[in-house]
Amino acid sequence: MKGHVPTPDDLVDSMVARLFASNEPVPGDSLLDPGCGGGAFIAGVLRWCEANGVAPPRITGVELNPSLAAKARKRFADYPAVRIVQANYLLSPVTTSYRFIIGNPPYVSLANLGGNVQRDSYRKRFTSARGRFDLYMLFFERSIDALAPNGRLVFITPEKFLYVSSAKELRRLLAARTFVASIHLAPEDAFPGFTTYPAITTLDRQTDEQTPTAVRLRCGTARHAQLPGDGESWWPYLMAEQTANDDPLLGDVCVRVSAGVATGADDVFVRAIAELPAQLRSFAKPAVAGRDLATGMPFPTPHRAILIPYRDTGELLPRADLGALGRHLASPSLKEALERRSCAERKPWYAFHDNFPPDILRPKILFKDITKEPFFWVDRTGDVIPLHSVYYIVPERGDQLDALCEWLNGPEASRWLEANCQRAANGFLRLQSSVLRRLPVPAHVLAQAPMRMAA
Ligand SMILES: C[S@@+](CC[C@H](N)C(=O)[O-])C[C@H]1O[C@@H](n2cnc3c(N)ncnc32)[C@H](O)[C@@H]1O
Repeated sequence: MKGHVPTPDDLVDSMVARLFASNEPVPGDSLLDPGCGGGAFIAGVLRWCEANGVAPPRITGVELNPSLAAKARKRFADYPAVRIVQANYLLSPVTTSYRFIIGNPPYVSLANLGGNVQRDSYRKRFTSARGRFDLYMLFFERSIDALAPNGRLVFITPEKFLYVSSAKELRRLLAARTFVASIHLAPEDAFPGFTTYPAITTLDRQTDEQTPTAVRLRCGTARHAQLPGDGESWWPYLMAEQTANDDPLLGDVCVRVSAGVATGADDVFVRAIAELPAQLRSFAKPAVAGRDLATGMPFPTPHRAILIPYRDTGELLPRADLGALGRHLASPSLKEALERRSCAERKPWYAFHDNFPPDILRPKILFKDITKEPFFWVDRTGDVIPLHSVYYIVPERGDQLDALCEWLNGPEASRWLEANCQRAANGFLRLQSSVLRRLPVPAHVLAQAPMRMAA
């Protein structure tokens, strides 16, 4: 069942309490649960009303899945206040306005949405259907339209809309058309059996530009934040104090965050290790290209090598010291290709396009600069050369390598990168070194590295 993840009762009860906080339903009020599934929220509303001695409002549950809709209808058959409609909430017209809307909309990303026709009709209908949108974002937009002027909405959704660039229009819309009363980052284990990063968002239809949004972070910190209205990421505003403390930036604790070696002629300098002639081996080092690295997979055994006309200390070898490599590169077709490069006008014809950085041979962390999801690998020996499609980070202290890499692959760093890096046209993240250098690294990550042994 696409997007069906039932909400546990304790979570439901806390959200219903939020919905009715200083805002009790009165006779004649109506309440909507879009994507109601088996009716977890409807049951929660009825529980709250019974516990508080309040008559339930008129409740409508909308559910796409016919068997779930039938199940909910059967469950509430004895409650005349409850009506279950089997329909596509996103494509049905807005004919009623509701004082209360509560729910756990489906999390289905664009990639998992079946059929171009449906995708196109969502794109036509919703301003927030931009880039790699997710169904829950459209549920927000559709529900703002259905919210009465004095209405309140409480949704639990993935927190991603708070920072991903594909939710820029949604953030703009929420800021313009509602007052974001609160954002509560719910625990990662809120849905038993799943690791999720949920956010409980409370929206009031009445806009109030003066009052800031109440924020509760997963660590328990509570604060207020004035969210920007231009669609920019809300994450830095929610995290304000977390990042304004004394945590060092990645650029402060690393000697280098840079792109790998750019030769300007990989066809000449980069060869398969298996095909490398014996006389060139002393000039070669193992190399990796972006296409050799697969997210979530271990660091691969390199199968390419790069021929390096430089000393390990970074100086270009004089032509006379190039030996077999000099003779190889000077063969007419290779020399011609090397001389065609623009850099050959200002430096010896056999030099790389960019100089050879000596610290590239230190233990380091490698990553792809354009990637669907950020992922980092450790080159512990330091002898692998990243080609220009791979970036590298050299921590000041080699003993911080593993702790830093582990943290970079964790949720905190991923969220920051999602929130702060640009996206390429295909939706992939661009992990530019200038942005990465600004990444705050919690002091505890650096502190947990083993102490360096005295020499
Ligand atoms: C995350 S589940 C939540 C179910 C229930 N509200 C709960 O919290 O236990 C989302 C529900 O939305 C339904 N759904 C998905 N797309 C829908 C659509 N376009 N219109 C109405 N319901 C939809 C799914 O079938 C699923 O039951």
